Amino acid sequence: MPDSWENFLSDCERCRACPLGATRGKVVVYRGSPKAPLMFIGEGPGAEEDARGKPFVGQAGRLLDLLLEAQGFPESVYHIGNVVKCRPPENRVPTEAEAAACKPLLARQILLVRPRVVVMLGATAYRYITQSKDPISRVRGQWTEKNGFHMLPTFHPAYILRNDRERVVLWQDLALVRRKLEELGYLDPLPNQAAMPSGRG
Ligand code: URA
Repeated sequence: MPDSWENFLSDCERCRACPLGATRGKVVVYRGSPKAPLMFIGEGPGAEEDARGKPFVGQAGRLLDLLLEAQGFPESVYHIGNVVKCRPPENRVPTEAEAAACKPLLARQILLVRPRVVVMLGATAYRYITQSKDPISRVRGQWTEKNGFHMLPTFHPAYILRNDRERVVLWQDLALVRRKLEELGYLDPLPNQAAMPSGRG
């Protein structure tokens, strides 16, 4: 039987495949559109995400939203999720075992969303999705195509909050994503080039 969002969300709620299920507040699955040509995958929920049950609603998320809005991405074109759906205590990086335990749910999520473009936000998402140990600073901004997905690694917005001079790099990578969605026919070209916003969203 084909999977449904209803089944998938209830499996996420019930999941105890790793110890994070026991310590989380809320399970954090997605925000944005349930079906979208573009999917962002971050690392894992922080304190605000854990409290609200939605990814990227803290400071890093506000920065991401600011940049997405300035690049003219409507919410209908994107879906935002994470490598793990439960908050690692003290905001530590999810372990390999936790990411592996969560992978079947992420795989189901990708099948339900059916994105054409997948953006890996930060080194952890890049490493756990591709299994590559290449540094994110070397691979960011470079497209690969795998199983019909256009994949792009870029910096995590939390990294930009700590290193504002790299903001332009994330901005440029989001411009690449915009162009890809235009090429694929999901967005019309913008009449004027967007200007990078300053501030933290
Ligand atoms: N950082 C992430 O990687 N994911 C979130 O949901 C929030 C912050």
